[in-house]
Amino acid sequence: MKEVTITINGKEVQVQVDLTILKAAEQIGIDIPRLCYDEELSLSGACRLCVVEVEGRPNLQAACVTQVTEGMVIHTESPAVVAARRAILDLLLSDHPLDCLTCEKNGDCKLQEYCYRYGLKESSFVGERHHYLVDDSNPFIYRDMNKCIQCERCVRACAEITGQDNISFINRGFSRKVATYADKPFADSICTFCGNCVAVCPTGALIEKPMMGKGRRWELKRVKTTCPFCGTGCNFDLCVKDGKLVGVLSNPNSVVNGRALCIKGRFGWDYVNNEERLTTPLIKKNGKFAEASWDEAISLIATRLGEIKEKYGPNAFGALSSARCTNEENYLMQKFARAVMGTNNVDHCART
Ligand code: SF4
Ligand code: SF4
Ligand code: SF4
Ligand code: FES
Repeated sequence: MKEVTITINGKEVQVQVDLTILKAAEQIGIDIPRLCYDEELSLSGACRLCVVEVEGRPNLQAACVTQVTEGMVIHTESPAVVAARRAILDLLLSDHPLDCLTCEKNGDCKLQEYCYRYGLKESSFVGERHHYLVDDSNPFIYRDMNKCIQCERCVRACAEITGQDNISFINRGFSRKVATYADKPFADSICTFCGNCVAVCPTGALIEKPMMGKGRRWELKRVKTTCPFCGTGCNFDLCVKDGKLVGVLSNPNSVVNGRALCIKGRFGWDYVNNEERLTTPLIKKNGKFAEASWDEAISLIATRLGEIKEKYGPNAFGALSSARCTNEENYLMQKFARAVMGTNNVDHCART
């Protein structure tokens, strides 16, 4: 790939010609703030927070949509750039509730992060503010459009990742907002509750409802794992607080799925804490289940399988396994059938 020489903040570097200024800066460790830009979504150029100064160009350029060219001289934190970013944040804050103290996104909010970075505590503008009712209509997603900064990430995620096109902008000017068809609550829309919109939202406008009140994001220990629900094998982070599972968050480094998940992977974890789950093996004695130790249960199964093999031959046994298990578990199942039971009678629900 052809390279060009550019200078960013006084540092001369060679970068690939097809990069945007934002990506080129990232490669040399310069973080340009962004609100509408998302690695996994199409470019939008909506928020303008990523503006930078390019020598010889009359206006500030949006770094996320401007490609590098030979000899470009770029300043990412010049006084004009900082003033523009402060003005944009000031405008966003002019219609924002600023209830960071109780907001679920406190500490994990891009708006908060950039206001801290550029020293904005409140807006200098006065005027009307929105007072939307929150959409609490479903068990999965809590929507507070008062915290929406109109970055359009959720709209693009729903269209480009999920393919559901459930949300879009409606109205114009001050009344513009993200809404479902006919502005219905999510529960009455065609939403599949995959939560991919929530995963990309940079503010507290969209929240995983089952995680609300269960801990600040920085308090959660994140453990990367594989989804147990189907054979796609999506990866995500289990969020653990005080030894208890409190939610699932996308892991952007998941090779299989990026941040995309379906409703089962993202929201189907509550069974883990269900008090009705079996925690010890049960063995039926005299027609009734009785609690048993693992040693007892495993030795009973081994004895019974041995008896069946002895009496009826290895082919009396067949093993059925599931796409809900990992590859390793499925491997062990067929290995057990072949090496221990001596049969090739193995099958799998995903075969057909
Ligand atoms: S969305 Fe961000 S800035 Fe807004 S209240 Fe929540 S934490 Fe604060
Ligand atoms: S939960 Fe999924 S389907 Fe529903 S709006 Fe968000 S991305 Fe679209
Ligand atoms: S709901 Fe979130 S992702 Fe969607 S436009 Fe508003 S701030 Fe952006
Ligand atoms: S991040 Fe570039 S315009 Fe929003």
